[in-house]
Amino acid sequence: MYTKSIVASVLIACICVQFAESLVCYTCTTPNDCKKPSKTTCSNAAANETSLHLGIYHQGVRNATSTRFDCLALQYTWNNQVIHQLHGCVHPAVGPCTLSLKPAYGHYNKTKCLTCSGDKCNKSPAGKVSSSIYTILASVVGLLLVKTLA
Ligand SMILES: *[C@@H]1O[C@H](CO)[C@@H](O)[C@H](O)[C@H]1NC(C)=O
Ligand SMILES: *[C@@H]1O[C@H](CO)[C@@H](O)[C@H](O)[C@H]1NC(C)=O
Ligand SMILES: *[C@@H]1O[C@H](CO)[C@@H](O)[C@H](O)[C@H]1NC(C)=O
Repeated sequence: MYTKSIVASVLIACICVQFAESLVCYTCTTPNDCKKPSKTTCSNAAANETSLHLGIYHQGVRNATSTRFDCLALQYTWNNQVIHQLHGCVHPAVGPCTLSLKPAYGHYNKTKCLTCSGDKCNKSPAGKVSSSIYTILASVVGLLLVKTLA
């Protein structure tokens, strides 16, 4: 019984630390920049910055304030050349992957767009994998917890 509660406490502590940590996303705004992206801790200011960049090429970028953020990885090509790339923290409400391009940029080929939640999950192209590993880990820990407490 005693051992069980210790195991449960440790598990709960681990999960809380995981969730209390603020989200970190890879950030860059040009193809060249994105070869060596920096890391940014998400905040409304950081997500506003991404919205600003999204607004250069897209129409209808919403003004938003968030308490939870996603990481974005976005890439456009033209004639097999990467001409626009943007990584960073986004307001989930902005829906960056469903935005339409301004007519002047309508010929851009959207070759990649993903949003994910999980630290540094927007590093190309492994982003989706690491995000789902987090989900699987969380489920496994959750199951263990339920079994331990039962
Ligand atoms: C981000 O943008 C929203 C909407 O324009 C604004 O209300 C908010 O003050 C901005 N936040 C920061 C930290 O700049
Ligand atoms: C967002 O805010 C700016 C000024 O802060 C304003 O000019 C713009 O119209 C707003 N956009 C939307 C979609 O509300
Ligand atoms: C855009 O992408 C499509 C499908 O991947 C490809 O067939 C097409 O050649 C691309 N166009 C340009 C201009 O790169």
